[in-house]
Amino acid sequence: MVDVRLARFEDLPAMLEVAFLSFEKTFAPHNTREDMDIFYRDNYTIEKMQHEFYQPQTALFLAIEHGNVVGFVRLRKNDEVKEKLGDATIELQRLYVHPQHQGKSIGSLLMGNAMSYAAGEHAEWIWLGVWERNFLAQKFYAKWGFERFGEHTFLHGTDPQIDWLLKRRV
Ligand SMILES: CC(C)(COP(=O)(O)OP(=O)(O)OC[C@H]1O[C@@H](n2cnc3c(N)ncnc32)[C@H](O)[C@@H]1OP(=O)(O)O)[C@@H](O)C(=O)NCCC(=O)NCCS
Repeated sequence: MVDVRLARFEDLPAMLEVAFLSFEKTFAPHNTREDMDIFYRDNYTIEKMQHEFYQPQTALFLAIEHGNVVGFVRLRKNDEVKEKLGDATIELQRLYVHPQHQGKSIGSLLMGNAMSYAAGEHAEWIWLGVWERNFLAQKFYAKWGFERFGEHTFLHGTDPQIDWLLKRRV
């Protein structure tokens, strides 16, 4: 049985572990070790997680199985796509499932929760960025009805990479 609940400060180390393992599985085969390490140093530290935890206009939901964090999703309100989608948007900024638990509907459970949250916040659109070569995640988002509306460049270590921007009506 997998439960979903809001993250607490003391969950952050377990969330960092899930983010690291899932990112490593997805990205390490296609990127240099150097770029991976730069990315972790800049993004996946407990200090950065703590900072993000206290940012306003964000929500962090965890999937918990037998008391362990097996996935999480981070949502936030911002103005980044205002020109394309208007004011009432929510970004799905991170969605990670522990590699040993992928393909067991935990991502879908978190996505369902994200959609309910977005509806509760009266968002019209939920949107996200996904690496152009992250085909499994793209398949997951396509199943959820997301469609492409643009792209942006994302610096992975020293390597500029393209993220597709995907949107779905709430
Ligand atoms: C993408 C992700 C969040 C999906 O969560 P999940 O719990 O594995 O997905 P679900 O079990 O709810 O849904 C399964 C569907 O997702 C897709 N999928 C994506 N990654 C998958 C994986 N590793 N294993 C199995 N299915 C995966 C498939 O389309 C699958 O449908 P299918 O079985 O009919 O082919 C998760 O696999 C993950 O954390 N991946 C690594 C990190 C990542 O890429 N995050 C997104 C960054 S934008």
